Amino acid sequence: MAQTYDVAVIGAGPGGYVAAIRCAQLGLDTVCIDAFKNPQGKASLGGTCLNVGCIPSKALLESSENFHKAKHEFAVHGVKVSGVALDLATMMARKDKIVAQFTGGIAMLLRKNKVAAMHGTARFVSGGEVYTLEVDDAGKQETVTARHVIIATGSSPRHFDFSPVDGELIVDNAGALAFDAVPPRLGIIGAGVIGLELGSVWRRLGSEVTILEALPTFLAAADEQVAKEAWRTFTKEQGLAIQLGVKIAAVKAGKKQVTVEYADAEGSHKLAFNRLIVATGRVPNSASVNAAAVGVEVDTRGFIAVDEHCRTHAPNVYAVGDVVRGAMLAHKASEEGVMVAELIAGQAGHVDYDVIPAVIYTAPEIAWVGKTEQQLKADGVAYSVGQFPFSANGRARALGAGSGFAKMLTDAASDRILGVHIIGPCAGELIAEAVTAMAYQASGEDVARTIHAHPSLSEALHEAALAANKRALHI
Ligand code: FAD
Ligand code: NAI
Repeated sequence: MAQTYDVAVIGAGPGGYVAAIRCAQLGLDTVCIDAFKNPQGKASLGGTCLNVGCIPSKALLESSENFHKAKHEFAVHGVKVSGVALDLATMMARKDKIVAQFTGGIAMLLRKNKVAAMHGTARFVSGGEVYTLEVDDAGKQETVTARHVIIATGSSPRHFDFSPVDGELIVDNAGALAFDAVPPRLGIIGAGVIGLELGSVWRRLGSEVTILEALPTFLAAADEQVAKEAWRTFTKEQGLAIQLGVKIAAVKAGKKQVTVEYADAEGSHKLAFNRLIVATGRVPNSASVNAAAVGVEVDTRGFIAVDEHCRTHAPNVYAVGDVVRGAMLAHKASEEGVMVAELIAGQAGHVDYDVIPAVIYTAPEIAWVGKTEQQLKADGVAYSVGQFPFSANGRARALGAGSGFAKMLTDAASDRILGVHIIGPCAGELIAEAVTAMAYQASGEDVARTIHAHPSLSEALHEAALAANKRALHI
C-alpha cells in the first residue's frame, strides 16, 4: 500500500511548487503532481510562468530591447555600430535555454526539499479524512492519497469562437513566444499585459504591430495619468497602432494571411496580418480536477471558490493562484501557496492582498501598488499627490531613459501611503520599495526621511514622497 501524504499539491506553477516546498520545509510529507509538457513532449515543471509566461517573455523583452538599442540608441552615446542584424534563431535559443535552466531548477528544488514529484493530470476520486486522487499520465493511471490537497492548476488562454487558435497563423502566448520569423504585419487582439509586452517585442524586432482592444479606455486598471503617458509613448514614439473600442466581427485564416474584420466608432474595417496573437485574458483551469466529487465549489466564471485564506468548501482542500479570484500574477500565486502551507502546518499564514505589485515590462516599464487616483476619488478619500519626472533624475538621464514619472498618493490626514505608480526605467524594481513601505504601513514622510543613494532611479520615489509632503527639492 502506497503512503498517504500529508499534502498533495496539484500543479507545479509558482503557486503549486512554492506551496510544496514550503509544506516540506514545515515537515509535511508532500507530493507535487503536474501535467505540463513542453513542445518536445517532456514533462517540464514551473507551469505557465516558467514555460510559456513570465520567464520566456522577459528573455525576449530583454533581447529585443538590446537589438533596438543597438540599432537606434547607441549612436547618441557616441558608440558607432554598423551592420546590426537580427539572428532570431539565436535569440529564441537563448530564451529556451533560460527556460530549461529554470524548469530544471524547480525539479532540483523539489528534490532538495524531499518533495515527491509526479507527472500527470490529477483528479479527485473521493474525499473524507483522506482524499484519493487519480493521476493519469498518457493513459497510465496511479492513485495518490493525501490528508490535505492544494489545487494550483493555474489558467489557460481564453480562446474565442471567432479566433480559432491554430498555433501557426493564429497563436496565443505560447505561439507568440516562439515565432520562427518576424511577421511583417502582426495583429494582436487585446491591449492587456500580454498584448503590450509581446507587441513591444515584435515591434522592436521589426513588425508593424496593430493591437485591437474591445474596451474604450486604455489600460483601465492603471492610474489614469500613467495610462495616458503609456499611450503617448507606445503609440506616438514606438509606433504601436492601438485601436480602442473595437468589436471583432470575424477572423479568417487563409494560407499565408489572417484577415480580421472589426467595427469601431468610425465604422467597419478589414485588416490582413501575417500572424495574429490572441491575448484576451485567461480562464481558470478548474475542470480537470473533478472538484464536484469532493464538494469543492466552482463559481460561474470557473474559478474555484475560496475564502481569504484560500480554503475551499471541502475540508482540508485549498486552492491558490490563477485558479482562484484575484490578480493572475505569479507572485500572488506563490504568496498564497506559502500562506496555505503555513495554515496546514498550524501556523498563522496570511496574504496582504492590498499590497500586491503589478508590473508591465514594456519600455518604459509600468509598475504600481495600492490605489489609483481614480479609485481614491471614487471612494471619496482625501489624498495628497507627490510626483517626480524621470527627466529631472540624473541616473535616468544618464541611462537615456528620462521619460515617465513616479507618483505617490498619501492619505491627506494621516500621510499613510495609499498607492504608488511608476512609469519609467526599472519601474518593476523601484516598486519594491513602495511595496515594502506600504506593507509596513509607512507614511510619505517615512520615505521622504529615508536616505536614497545618489544618483539613483530610486531618488524619483524619494522626491515623489517629498512632493506629497509639499517639500520637493528638485522640482
Ligand atoms: P500555472 O503557472 O498556470 O501552473 C499550473 C500548473 O498546473 C501547470 O503546469 C498545469 O499544467 C498544471 N495543471 C493543470 N491542471 C492540472 C491537473 N489536473 N493535474 C496536474 N497538473 C495540472 N505573472 C507575473 O507575475 N509576472 C509576469 O511577468 C508574468 N508574465 C506572464 C507572461 C505571459 C505570456 C503569461 C501567459 C503569463 C504571465 N504571468 C506573469 C502570469 C503568470 O504566469 C501566472 O499568474 C502564474 O503562472 C500562475 O501560477 P499558478 O501556479 O497559479 O498556475
Ligand atoms: P489582460 O486581462 O491583461 O488583457 C486582455 C485584454 O483583452 C483586455 O484589455 C480586454 O479588454 C481585451 N479583450 C478581451 N476580449 C476582447 C475581444 N473580444 N476583442 C478585443 N479585445 C478583447 O489579459 P492578457 O494580456 O491575456 O494576460 C493574461 C494574464 O496574464 C493577465 O491577467 C496578467 O495578469 C497576466 N500577465 C502578467 C504579466 C505581468 O505581470 N507582467 C505579463 C503577461 C501576462
